[in-house]
Amino acid sequence: MSRFEPIATLLKKDRKGHTLPGELYVSEEAFAFDAEVMLKSVWLYACTVAHVKNPGDYFVFELANNSIIIVRGRDNEVRAFWNSCRHRGARICLEQKGRAPRLMCPYHQWTYGLDGKLLAARSMAEDFDKDEHGLNPVALENVGGLIFICMADNPPPIDRVKADISEQIGIYNLDTLKVAVQDDYIEDANWKLVMENNRECYHCDVGHPELISVLGTTGFGKDAPDDAAKHKEWAALGIEHDLVEFPDGWWHRIARLPLANGAVTQSIDGKLACQKLIGPFKEPETSSLSVWTQPNSWHHFCCDHVVTFSLTPIGPDKTMLRTSWLVHEDAVEGVDYDPDHIAALWRATNQQDGYFSMINHQGIANDGYAQGPYAVEEKLVEDFKDFYVAASKAALA
Ligand code: FES
Ligand SMILES: [Fe+2]
Repeated sequence: MSRFEPIATLLKKDRKGHTLPGELYVSEEAFAFDAEVMLKSVWLYACTVAHVKNPGDYFVFELANNSIIIVRGRDNEVRAFWNSCRHRGARICLEQKGRAPRLMCPYHQWTYGLDGKLLAARSMAEDFDKDEHGLNPVALENVGGLIFICMADNPPPIDRVKADISEQIGIYNLDTLKVAVQDDYIEDANWKLVMENNRECYHCDVGHPELISVLGTTGFGKDAPDDAAKHKEWAALGIEHDLVEFPDGWWHRIARLPLANGAVTQSIDGKLACQKLIGPFKEPETSSLSVWTQPNSWHHFCCDHVVTFSLTPIGPDKTMLRTSWLVHEDAVEGVDYDPDHIAALWRATNQQDGYFSMINHQGIANDGYAQGPYAVEEKLVEDFKDFYVAASKAALA
């Protein structure tokens, strides 16, 4: 019997239109399965090109026991490597991010180039071949400036995701942005509940007073009113596209949404969060573009900044939500933007969502839990759940 036979049995209890069996959310076994099998079989969003802006910049992406170095080479290429030395396996990058001319293992100082090649290893036997001991690569794709990695030996296709997302976010030119703020926030809930919570705004009216004042409640899983005038405006700006919604079994959604109450960006007061506009925008724009991917990310592109979110599970009931706010590379802190102002809206919203995900997890851990029905406007939650079930079954097969 395979170690994950019980997971296969639980997956069979999946009910259309309903939440998963409780053990799939809260058990140690399900966490081990997700971290060791399911999440290693799919593409995961890790960071943006702005997180590794200059040659030598590295960014460490971690998932349970696995750690991956994303690093920009001298040739400007962004690559990913396992964070494990080819000598006796020590971890090489100990910090979450940094800049280094070379990657040196802290244990016996084996030294690697930014392209992963082993450059120096002291007192090895004469027939030791350095070329055979470069860092082991991990699959990486640059999707319009969003970096995705996949830990599988044979990663699933990503071409359609890459084409659709690049086409719409290309105008924001992530290569010309910098990271203004990064928050790593630990939620006391299983990662799938954090995702489910992200995929609906059924809770927004009551749960997110700050968010709905600038975003309204349309679009995030609800039917946005069809505003013909807006679409005409967007067409004139060259930013009008049809909604992309998990086409043909793919794992991405892209939508431009009007902001509410005269807001020109996703900030706490709806006012510009950075005075230097980005992309093609010369004037403040009363809409934002949102991108969602299965199974671990979402992103919002405003006229003055970009905010991106990634999830990584760190335990059955612990999830890291990483939020990064990107601004124009020439924007000056304290002059063009205030880090606390730019982060305030999503910081408040993340806290509120952390609370909802936590009480959801606690209630599911209760013996009285039974699989519950999704509301009509929770269709995107069901899309996520269906993706999880299908990817899990495929990974087990
Ligand atoms: S384990 Fe890295 S140099 Fe020895
Ligand atoms: Fe929320």
